[in-house]
Amino acid sequence: MDAFVIQGGKRLTGTVRIHGSKNAALPLMAGALLTDEPLILKDVPDLSDIRNMVKLLKTLGCTIDSTPDLGTTEDGLGVDIKLHANDPTKSVAHYDIVRTMRAGICALGPLLARRGYAKVSMPGGCAIGDRPVDLHIRGLQQLGARVQLAEGYIIAEAPGGPGTKLLGAHVFLGGPNGSTVLGTANVMSAAALAEGTTIIECAACEPEIEDLAEMLNAMGAKITGAGSPVVTIEGVDALNGTTHTVMPDRIEAGTYVIASAITNGDVVLENFPTRTLTAALDRLRIIGVEVTNLNQSIEPVSDSSSGPIATLEPKLQTLPGIRETVRVSTARRLEPTHVVTQPHPGFPTDLQAQLMALLCLADGNSVITEKIFPDRFLHVPELLRMGASCTRIGPSVMVTGVRELIGAPVMASDLRASAGLVLAALAARGTTTINRVYHLDRGYQRMELTLQKLGADIQRVKGASV
Ligand code: EPZ
Repeated sequence: MDAFVIQGGKRLTGTVRIHGSKNAALPLMAGALLTDEPLILKDVPDLSDIRNMVKLLKTLGCTIDSTPDLGTTEDGLGVDIKLHANDPTKSVAHYDIVRTMRAGICALGPLLARRGYAKVSMPGGCAIGDRPVDLHIRGLQQLGARVQLAEGYIIAEAPGGPGTKLLGAHVFLGGPNGSTVLGTANVMSAAALAEGTTIIECAACEPEIEDLAEMLNAMGAKITGAGSPVVTIEGVDALNGTTHTVMPDRIEAGTYVIASAITNGDVVLENFPTRTLTAALDRLRIIGVEVTNLNQSIEPVSDSSSGPIATLEPKLQTLPGIRETVRVSTARRLEPTHVVTQPHPGFPTDLQAQLMALLCLADGNSVITEKIFPDRFLHVPELLRMGASCTRIGPSVMVTGVRELIGAPVMASDLRASAGLVLAALAARGTTTINRVYHLDRGYQRMELTLQKLGADIQRVKGASV
């Protein structure tokens, strides 16, 4: 298992490009099962989760070609993938693949909609919680699907049996912790080929759902309202192929904003999805981290009342976009704050660990409350090993800022907790060794190369003993 060895204290400077989004790409790839025509996805991140999804889709009858080959990219560019679901006889998503990547559940809705039958392994839990799929199942049942659970598999059939269609319906997708992102992707994808119209209430509003709807509409679907809690899907007979560019990864983007901030750096980020990070950028602004859009033209506006001194203000306050170039600047003194993770457009749970690392160095007490995955605090004991002062209080953690963090050997546990530890290590005095970085490789494309490009002293040690 690989490890990262990081010498902290280097101030990050320079320019890097944000990759395509893992959490958009996975349901987009499953969308290939909705058509018998080729689907081309551009700027797909080269990640282990993506490679596992390719493996899964091949067992479901897809031929898949990627340029360049997955697993070979070294720099900041993604891959272009051509997916063609041309063998409809294969409709079983096996446990040995789905257990390694929960997002394999994304195949359920498309398979059921296109073939009238699907057998998908229950995904099982992971380090951040038990990850139920009851909302996925109830949503598909509301479209008329007959669903049974047997030997760890979800077995679903359209009401008229294999080869028949689902039925449009009024579907409610709310659960105890809000809506479900992949559940919304499953039901929205399935409804695209159902007979009649479907209205999803309490749909997830995440930008990845908007990106999926944009691709499905380009394939011939009729979806409105994606990105809002109410999504309407008018079922169509069939979907065509298309070419779609994956949206930028908002979580990777937020992670590198914090990497700049925690080292008091001066970093420019390209392909930055500004409008998808409003809540996170709002919190960061309160802490003292400013993200400036370099695209927006700022022209001096002469103001007669102020005499000859021109005041600089935006020529036109345009709406933030999805692929911008931004610059990160940070105050010397970081302010503490209170953060609660929420479904989008609230503060994303996937940035909670990264923000906690930053708040470990803020000047005062912060409180972070995790409302999506209440046990998503595996990074806390590891941060304590680095000299942080964090106190767990039920679904919250109180973080008391310290003068400095100290490098130490720490253990990665899940994807975003690991990212938080890398950020802490970048700021810590001395050496930090982060074991089991395969967790990071699931969601960050060669993170060490990106950080090296920004001046970090980080090395990947292959096959480190843990
Ligand atoms: C997606 O997972 C993301 N993964 C997660 O990112 C992200 O943390 C999560 O959404 C929340 O934003 C992908 O997109 C591949 P949910 P998903 O269904 O869809 C409960 C990362 O680090 N729930 O929105 O599986 C659930 O327990 C990953 O990139 C049910 O109760 O999450 C949780 O409390 C981690 N029943 C809440 O809803 C269900 O049937 C939100 O889960 C489904 C979910």
